[in-house]
Amino acid sequence: MQLYLDSAKLDEIKKLSSLGLIHGVTTNPSLIKIAAESMPDKPDLESYIKELQKAFYGPLSVEVISTDRQSMYREAMLIKEKFGMHNNNVVVKIPICTAKEMDDKNWDSGLEIIKSLSLHNIPVNTTLVLSPSQALLAANAGAKYVSPFAGRLDDYLVKAYFPGTKRSKSDYFPREGMTASNSKDVGTAIQRVIHGLPNYVNDDGTVSGVHLVGRIVTVLKNSNLDCKVLAASLRNPRQVVEMAEVGADIATVDYNTIVAMAMHQVSCDGIRRFAQDTIEEYRKLFTASSQQP
Ligand code: G3P
Repeated sequence: MQLYLDSAKLDEIKKLSSLGLIHGVTTNPSLIKIAAESMPDKPDLESYIKELQKAFYGPLSVEVISTDRQSMYREAMLIKEKFGMHNNNVVVKIPICTAKEMDDKNWDSGLEIIKSLSLHNIPVNTTLVLSPSQALLAANAGAKYVSPFAGRLDDYLVKAYFPGTKRSKSDYFPREGMTASNSKDVGTAIQRVIHGLPNYVNDDGTVSGVHLVGRIVTVLKNSNLDCKVLAASLRNPRQVVEMAEVGADIATVDYNTIVAMAMHQVSCDGIRRFAQDTIEEYRKLFTASSQQP
């Protein structure tokens, strides 16, 4: 499974690209906002995004901001025009469903734009995918990538079925969903029994973000559709590894989670111990060379 960086911060992209860890970058309006807020002056985003493109090899996803067909199409073409010529690595990010309410007539705008852009050979990353059925539609419409939002589905399931549960953003959520047997939160399990909630929390038959990604992998593979599964909204190393276990093609991960992936208490303890155990004679072996890596 390839790793992408989910960030619009130039320093993070440069750092992880120099380590060879990332094969692409995903952005969205929220990530652009975070990056812009960390800058001393208001940025010229056109040149800033071009700078991002130069900082790594691989696709860069840039998202449209409108929800109606005409504006989305115009924005997608502008993204292609401004950044496509530069490095030819730009991918247009389109929300699967632009309807703000369940009965919004705009339900098909995202799909229509995916189809139009694909016909023009403009690669599309379909974002905000929360169900296998949405992924199937996007892939049929011609999307090159689908981005299931695993963490946000976990948030949704906890909120819908276990209101009041205390949980921080990076907390692990079991891939089997929350059942009495695997829930670490005994209070929650008891609450579930008291309120007679179903054994498995259930959304479209999906019980967790990892489960969602695994189902999409199977559905697209069985359908023989040429569309990559780009697992997104990942918040901890365990979730990232589980994405590889269920067969995601790519996981887009934020900088702090990538740092956390490198760390383990026993590795750190081991380094300290090796340093303490290093005898003088062994140290001498390394004093002659002054070569830098
Ligand atoms: O790539 C999608 C991601 O940026 C959303 O992450 O943690 O806000 O759900 P999150």
